[in-house]
Amino acid sequence: MMNPQVAKQTNAYQTLLLLPKPFVHGSCSRNGSLLTVPAGAKSSSFPRKQSRRVGFSPSTIKASAVVTPIAYTPSPVNVKAILTVQRTVGGFFSNIGFQGVLDDFKDLFGRSLLLELVSTELQPQTGEEKSIKGYAHKTNRDGKLALVTYEISFEIPAEFGRVGAVIIENEHHKEMFLKDIVLDGFPDGPVSLSCNSWLHSKYDNPRNRVFFTNKSYLPSETPSGLRRLREEELVILRGNGQGERKKFERIYDYDVYNDLGDPDSDADLKRPVLGGKYHPYPRRCRTGRPQCATDRFSESKSNDFYYVPRDEAFSEVKQITFSAKALYSGLHSLVPRLKALNDKDLEFPYFTAIDSLFDEGINLPPVKGDSFLKNILPRLIKAIEDSDDILQFETPETMDRDKFFWLRDAEFARQTLAGLNPCSIQLVTKWPLKSELDPEIYGSPESAITTEMIEKEIGGFMTVEEAIKQKKLFILDYHDLLLPYVSKVRKLKGTTLYGSRTLFFLNPDGTLRPLAIELTRPKIGEKPQWRQVFTPSWHATDVWEWRLAKAHVLAHDSGYHQLVSHWLRTHCVTEPYIIATNRQLSVIHPIYRLLHPHFRYTMEINALARSSLINADGVIEASFSPGKYAMELSSVAYDKQWRFDLQALPADLISRGMAVEDPAAPHGLKLTIEDYPFANDGLVLWDFIKKWVSDYVNHYYSDAAQIQSDEELQAWWTEILTVGHADKKDEPWWPELNTPQDLIDIITIIVWVASGHHAAVNFGQYLYAGYFPNRPTIARTNVPAEDCTRESWNEFLKRPEGALLKCFPSQVQATTVMVTLDILSNHSPDEEYLGKKSEAAWDEDPVIKAAFERFSGRLMLLEGIIDGRNADAKHFKNRTGAGVVPYELLKPFSEDGVTGKGVPYSISI
Ligand SMILES: [Fe+2]
Repeated sequence: MMNPQVAKQTNAYQTLLLLPKPFVHGSCSRNGSLLTVPAGAKSSSFPRKQSRRVGFSPSTIKASAVVTPIAYTPSPVNVKAILTVQRTVGGFFSNIGFQGVLDDFKDLFGRSLLLELVSTELQPQTGEEKSIKGYAHKTNRDGKLALVTYEISFEIPAEFGRVGAVIIENEHHKEMFLKDIVLDGFPDGPVSLSCNSWLHSKYDNPRNRVFFTNKSYLPSETPSGLRRLREEELVILRGNGQGERKKFERIYDYDVYNDLGDPDSDADLKRPVLGGKYHPYPRRCRTGRPQCATDRFSESKSNDFYYVPRDEAFSEVKQITFSAKALYSGLHSLVPRLKALNDKDLEFPYFTAIDSLFDEGINLPPVKGDSFLKNILPRLIKAIEDSDDILQFETPETMDRDKFFWLRDAEFARQTLAGLNPCSIQLVTKWPLKSELDPEIYGSPESAITTEMIEKEIGGFMTVEEAIKQKKLFILDYHDLLLPYVSKVRKLKGTTLYGSRTLFFLNPDGTLRPLAIELTRPKIGEKPQWRQVFTPSWHATDVWEWRLAKAHVLAHDSGYHQLVSHWLRTHCVTEPYIIATNRQLSVIHPIYRLLHPHFRYTMEINALARSSLINADGVIEASFSPGKYAMELSSVAYDKQWRFDLQALPADLISRGMAVEDPAAPHGLKLTIEDYPFANDGLVLWDFIKKWVSDYVNHYYSDAAQIQSDEELQAWWTEILTVGHADKKDEPWWPELNTPQDLIDIITIIVWVASGHHAAVNFGQYLYAGYFPNRPTIARTNVPAEDCTRESWNEFLKRPEGALLKCFPSQVQATTVMVTLDILSNHSPDEEYLGKKSEAAWDEDPVIKAAFERFSGRLMLLEGIIDGRNADAKHFKNRTGAGVVPYELLKPFSEDGVTGKGVPYSISI
């Protein structure tokens, strides 16, 4: 009867509903006391309509209803509800003190978790909801077990219908982490509810929690008995936009980035609000903290608590053994100790001093209470008995394979296709290169890179015109983005900036080589515009000037990577998708269930970033060239460059001229550079994601009308455009959501960004930037040729290595970034890799289960494809070669640790 999978049973039950139903009425009148939540009527989750629900009594509390057996009435079913609770450090099972004793007593007497099973059907005569309730009791008392179970037996009347939801009241004084509920005893198998959620104490919040079964329903198909619960749960999750959010709450709401500064502690730490007319930006999660005393537009940071909805917080596995704690400890404990080591501006005296970070490490003076660091960061802190802590870095594989990899121009060029930031390189389509900035302010728009210069570098191979026609010229263009900030940044201490253009030529063998770097300073005050073109050379002075120019470009690329390719394009833009999904799509909406694993921990890691990485004077500001203007620059990039539609990998490649549509080519695209490892592997992954999303979406939506009439789905998309990305709401490029194909395209983008794109720009951070000369985050001094004096030029000629080391990050900056990148490149032991772990709701539907298995199988295939490419030196020169690290960033699976591979479902680090 109760099994939702078996149509025959349902039909039989529907027939029976036509019979007189004395049980329902009898139960309702005789068991009135069970209709009221014993802890007080106020504790009902949905008090407004509580009276509409008809109650049944559970057998454990001795059902007092007397049912007169009548012909054709099937027997009641005895069902056991088993709740599995995860033992957690901070939750209920850490109970100590008086409240803990009280809770133990409640458990002992079986009155700690009140369950209410809710039918999918309404009373046909009255339209009332049907439910049955009772207390679950704890069944295992072994304090060492990781999982604890609670049970209750129900005698469910035949006419109750299918169970669609369970409402729970937690009468403990502390929250508990509920993993799942299984209702066992139905003739056709158990009914499961995957919860994986924090169940708040009724003393924190008197509203009860509702959990739905794993069956997904479009809004129009919601069973009548669940409709009110579905709607009201969404209202709860949206909150009322008032007050400061508390840790146990589950409210998803929006706010602007007005908490990056800290003007109350120092006026210099005031930062502009990101989000709004002046600095367009995606929205973040609203925390509701009070405004600053000194700036009403900024949110106060009176304590270290950054609210995220309770279920968005890291799991304890991740928290205790890894990321959050490691990142928090690294940034809050280790970094201050590094700063205390020496003058924060002091450069490395020799290259050998950089090597010693890996060979010998740095002695960290012991700090009281910091002994835990070596347990939390064992990869970084090597403990030696009776000695200080040693901070010693692992040698990145890039350096391990080739100590001089960072010096080679071919490697510099190769990394634009297969390195940490493979999303900036673009085809040159117009010549001469020209700025779009106002010449009145920024000087001549024409580039100083001339046709003659390039033709000299190409070596008579072809003319510039032919090179452009044959798609041989490529560029890293950080000219127009950075130039408006040069003057401001140069006023900051310890940094400098240029606008830059770097040109590359595609060799006949498919590899790139750099041709020229142009660095530009606009007119600043009395100083006229200054610019110079650097080219590779064999002359000693030119070689060193080229190296210094390269250091500047790499600092620009590092900043763009971290602020735009990584933070903005993945972490930041995804947060509004998560908020909208939770506010507008019910947990039983199939699209919620498709997206949910892709949002795991993103809000939490973003909150951590706001507290320690992207905040005023945080790691980014202190260690990257733009300094305090870093986040403002990411807002400019959002305003001028970011488009939702261009986040699709094929569209991104086409927009950069790196591919053209070609129906005959694999993936429907012909790549401009055939051996483009990020694009080659990324397109395979993109296609696999798209196939899986198509299978899923097409299973639930058969036509456009279903998409257009799905009010939750339409509200979800509208909210993403108009609220989460409000500053871009009028852009014409937002896709429409009218057909199943529209939905497939939109979701494929969201999934790709959270999985493939993020993996490509995240998990290689230590690999490529751990040895910082390969990717310095900051260039602190101007190139020697700019405004040089006889003394400064002679000093450069005398010891050019010193000039490069002075330009590179300081010792404090470099080690701070290395610690951060090491942590950010790490896979947690509980990492969930794309296609590896299925969702319970997917498994319950045989069509979805089969589609997921196909997806999973294809990802295994991708592992092999990537291994094959990395082993094929003949066809893939941009990912193979002596001392070259294979390109594995889009290999789907990985072991934990810093591996340089593995594509998790979500952005969780
Ligand atoms: Fe990340």
